[in-house]
Amino acid sequence: MTKFSGKKRNYPTDAPVLVTCGLPYASGPMHIGHLRTYVPADVFVRLLRKMRVDVTFVCGSDTHGTPIVTAAEKADVSPKELYEKYHQHYVDIFPKLNIQFDNYGTTDDVENHERTKQIVCVLQDEGYIYPKDLDSPFCDSCGRSLPDRYVRGECPYCHADARGDECDQGCGRYLEPGELLNPRCAICGSPTRSVTRKHYYFKLSAFEDFLKTYLTEVDGTKNARNYALGWVKEGLKDWCITRDLDWGVKYPGDEDLTLYVWVDAPIHYMSSTEQWAKKKSDPTAWEKFWKPGDGRLVHYIGQDIVYHHCIFWPAMLKGSNYNLPYAIVASGMVKIEGHNFSRSRGYVVWILDDYLDQGLHPDYLRYYMVSYTSQTKDLDFSWDAFRDKVNNELVGTFGNFIYRALHFSKKNFGQIPEGEPDAEIRKKIKQAIDSVIDGVNEYELKKVTDTILSLATLGNEYFQENKPWELVRSDKEKCAHVLFNAVYLVKALTILIDPIMPGVAEVIWKQLGSDTDIHSIPLSDAIEPPIAGTEIPKPKPVIHKLEDEVLAELNESIETRIRSAEAAEKGESIDMPTVSFEDFKKLDIRAGKILSCERVPKTDKLLKLEVDIGTETRQIVTGLAELYTPEELTGVTALFLVNLEPKKLAGVQSQGMIIAVEKADEKGKWLPVTIEGVPPGSKAA
Ligand code: 2FM
Ligand code: ZN
Repeated sequence: MTKFSGKKRNYPTDAPVLVTCGLPYASGPMHIGHLRTYVPADVFVRLLRKMRVDVTFVCGSDTHGTPIVTAAEKADVSPKELYEKYHQHYVDIFPKLNIQFDNYGTTDDVENHERTKQIVCVLQDEGYIYPKDLDSPFCDSCGRSLPDRYVRGECPYCHADARGDECDQGCGRYLEPGELLNPRCAICGSPTRSVTRKHYYFKLSAFEDFLKTYLTEVDGTKNARNYALGWVKEGLKDWCITRDLDWGVKYPGDEDLTLYVWVDAPIHYMSSTEQWAKKKSDPTAWEKFWKPGDGRLVHYIGQDIVYHHCIFWPAMLKGSNYNLPYAIVASGMVKIEGHNFSRSRGYVVWILDDYLDQGLHPDYLRYYMVSYTSQTKDLDFSWDAFRDKVNNELVGTFGNFIYRALHFSKKNFGQIPEGEPDAEIRKKIKQAIDSVIDGVNEYELKKVTDTILSLATLGNEYFQENKPWELVRSDKEKCAHVLFNAVYLVKALTILIDPIMPGVAEVIWKQLGSDTDIHSIPLSDAIEPPIAGTEIPKPKPVIHKLEDEVLAELNESIETRIRSAEAAEKGESIDMPTVSFEDFKKLDIRAGKILSCERVPKTDKLLKLEVDIGTETRQIVTGLAELYTPEELTGVTALFLVNLEPKKLAGVQSQGMIIAVEKADEKGKWLPVTIEGVPPGSKAA
C-alpha cells in the first residue's frame, strides 16, 4: 500500500461528513455569484468520495422572508407561485452543471416547518427565548409594517445606506429591527413612524463565552472565524427572531407572528438531511450528523452570510442540543469585469441564458470557478479571462497532453504499450495525490487545479524531451516505454481531474479503454500504472478552444446589458448607432398569423411556428418556450421580420423572427407584438 501525506487529516474514513451549501433564495434565476459556493462544495464532496470518506451533500431553496415576498409582489404572483417556479429552475439547472446533491428540498417543506418548530420549542423550554416590546418601522402611506427589506436607512455603525436587516452597502453587519437611523419605506420612500408590539427574542448574549471558544476551534477558512470572533468580542445583542409578516413559519405559541427567515433557513440543512434519510428508507440516518457524535458538518457559504452561520446558527444548535458545525468555509464574492456584482447595473452573468444555452461546457466553468483564485478571495469574472483559462490551460496544456499521449499510442501500438513505470514519474504522481489531499484539508481547491496543471505540464515536457516520434523509428521498445509512462500520467490526471470536470473525465476514461465508472475510482488508484495491452479506441480532442467569434458575441451581450442598464438608470435611450432610412426600408416587417406551434425537442426555450405571412407559410423558430405554451401562441397574429437571413436553431431552419418587446424590470419577460384583426401579410412601415 502506498502511504500518502502524513499531515493532519480532517476527514478520516470512519467519520460521516455532511456538506451543505448556502440555500439560494428561490426568487430569481441562477447567476455566476451562486457558483462561487456551489461549485467548490460539489468538488469538495467529490474529492472526499474519492478519498473514501462517507459524505452526504444537501441543499435546498430558501423560500421565506422578505426576499421572496418583495419579488413576488413585483411579479404580481403569490410567494408560493414565485418560489415554485424558481425552485424548479434550480432543480433543473444543478444537474446541468454536474452539481449533484443527495437531497434538494425547500424551506417550505413540511419537514422544515416541523423541525423549525421543534427547535424553537426546545429553545423556549430551555429559557433562551423571551418576549419584549419592540419599536419597529411602519409606513402610513403603504399602510403596512416594514420588516427587513421593506425598509432602508442609515447604518448605525458605519452610516452607509443599509436595508432593515443588513448593512448591505457598507460594513455588512446584521442589523436588528428598529436599529436603522432615519428609516424610510423601501417601496414608496416615505419616512416611517414607529409602532410598538410584542416580539420574541433569542438570548444570543448568553452564548458569548461559548462562541468565543467555539470560534477559535472551528475548522474551515480563516475569514469566517476571524470576522465572527471580531463581532463576538464587540459584544452580542439579543436577537429578535419574529417578524410582522404573513409568509413563513409561524412562531409556535403566537401564530400572529412569523419567524425571521434566518431561523428556518439554516434549519433546512437538518430537514434536508431528514428528507434524504426518508428517501433511502432509513429515517433515522440523519441523526449521525446532527445528534452529538462523530459526524462532521461542513457549511460552504458566501462571505456575506458569515454572521448568520458563525454566530446565530451555532448558538441555536448549542441551545437546542444538536451537533455543532465542524467547519465553515466562506468564499470571497464574485465581481464582473472588475465591478461589484449587480443585477440592476447589468454586472451579472446568468447561468442558463449566458452560459449553458450558448452551448458552453459546464466543466469549463467549474474549472474556472475553482482555479481562478484562492477560496477566500474575490473572483473577477470576465469572458477574456475565461477564454484564457480554457484555451491556454485546459486546451493548451491539459487537453494537448492527453490527446498527444493517447493519439501517439493508438497510432503506433493500437493499445497501451508495454513498459515499466518510471520511478520519477511515480514520485511526481504520488506528490500530486498528496498535494490534492492537502488542498482538501486546507479547503483550498486552487491547490488541486494547480497541482493538476503542473502534472500535465510535466507530461508535456516528458513527451517533448523523449521525442517518441523519433524513437518509434530508432528504438520501438523505448518508444513503448515512454508512451506507457505518458499514458500512466494520463490515467493519473483523469482520476485527479474527475471531481472538477466529471464530464470531461468520463470521456477520457473511455479513451483509456476503460469500461468502469471513473467516479467510483479512488484517488489512490492514480498511483497504479495502466495495464499494458489494453486496447484503446481512436482518441479525439476532449476540450475545445473558445473561438474569437464566440467570445466577441459573449462580450457584446454583456456590454449591451451594461449599456442598457446605465441608460435605464439615467432615463435615457440606449446609445446605439443611427440607422439610415434607406437601411430601415430594407426591413420587411409584416403581420403573420401563427397557424401552429410546437416545442423544438431537446431544448428548453425554442418553439417552432408555422406562420401565414400572406404570400406563403413560413417556418420560424423563436425562443419563447419558457414564457408561452404552444396553445397560447397558436392563432395569434403578431409582427414578424420576414427577410432576416435564414438560420438554423438547434438544427431547425428558421426563416424570420417574431418581434417582441421586453417588459421592463422583469428579466426575460418578452411579449410578442400582437396585432389582432390585421390580415396576414400586411406590411409595417
Ligand atoms: O443569503 C442567502 O442567499 C440565503 N438564502 C442563504 C441562506 S443559507 C442558510 F442558512 F439557509
Ligand atoms: Zn454599516
